[in-house]
Amino acid sequence: SMLRSLARRTSTAGTRRGFASESAPDRKVAILGAAGGIGQPLSLLMKLNPLVSRLALYDIAGTPGVAADVSHINTRSEILGYAGEEQLGKALEGADVVIIPAGVPRKPGMTRDDLFNINAGIVKSLCTAIAKYCPHALVNVISNPVNSTVPIASEVFKKAGTYDEKRLFGVTTLDVVRAKTFYAGKAKVNVADVIVPVVGGHAGVTILPLFSQATPSANLSSEEIEALTKRTQDGGTEVVEAKAGKGSATLSMAYAGAIFADACLKGLNGVPDVVECSFVQSTVTDLPFFASKVRLGKNGVEEVLGLGALSDYEKEGLEALKPELKSSIEKGIKFAHA
Ligand code: NAD
Ligand code: LMR
Repeated sequence: SMLRSLARRTSTAGTRRGFASESAPDRKVAILGAAGGIGQPLSLLMKLNPLVSRLALYDIAGTPGVAADVSHINTRSEILGYAGEEQLGKALEGADVVIIPAGVPRKPGMTRDDLFNINAGIVKSLCTAIAKYCPHALVNVISNPVNSTVPIASEVFKKAGTYDEKRLFGVTTLDVVRAKTFYAGKAKVNVADVIVPVVGGHAGVTILPLFSQATPSANLSSEEIEALTKRTQDGGTEVVEAKAGKGSATLSMAYAGAIFADACLKGLNGVPDVVECSFVQSTVTDLPFFASKVRLGKNGVEEVLGLGALSDYEKEGLEALKPELKSSIEKGIKFAHA
């Protein structure tokens, strides 16, 4: 709907009529890793979002070019480019939402956990700076393995005394985007109408789409549901293999990241009934972090929603994912303490 409203606005170029941003509050968004495969298209999409008034693009290298390029787009936000660690504080100061797609992506044959050794340290240092420069920002963690990097972020914030579980999110929107696309294809329904919750975590079997709750409903066989579930769980790997060494999903991830950040901004702005799935601190299961539907509000998480009724197949999937998710969470917590 963001892109639809953008198209509408473009078609009335030159008039200011219906330009929602004139009444929208000032909001600063910072993207850390803005010059990367996800960072660049995400910077573009956030520049198109009329809820953003300042967009800070930070990376360890390459940001001046990306920032100059994006800054020529005639939309509301002012673009601020920052390169190198000594500019990280300036990038973060005053941010309402920080999006983190910094870190290395997978190559064929790797699991997301194989990225831990490099990305854990990157997320730890970026979150240390967030605690210092914008402790009240909503933090959207994209860097993999999300099942571990979100617990790392929580421990960094706890240590700094700034942790608020309402403001920390693992971005699992791409799993929802995929589940919607694959379901619409199989169920032969309009993809724009589809709603499917995806719960659990963001790696392999920990990704649990709840197709029994999908709407519009369709009479899919258990074989079809199983195939859709597997394809959603392996969606990342499908892209990694197709890119054959050139990285993982970037464009679909940028889209998903932009949708989730837009939901965070709407929540901050007091728009009612903003609900997205996200990997957050949770009491929905016995695990300390879990992805489920979350209602977003002026303070971030307003309510973590329960799982609803599950099919037997989904109940089995839920039990099967817990050991892996538990150990990935514990690995992150242990790293942050070391
Ligand atoms: P990329 O290599 O193209 O870009 C990563 C960027 O991060 C680079 O520009 C790099 O310079 C930057 N970077 C590295 N260290 C940094 C630091 N300390 N501070 C700031 N920037 C830093 O990778 P990509 O394809 O954009 O993927 C980025 C991450 O997102 C990977 O970990 C990938 O696995 C993950 N990812 C997550 C999802 C998800 O659904 N959550 C989806 C796709 C990718
Ligand atoms: C994805 O789901 O596409 C990302 O987590 C990237 C990956 O490594 O699969």
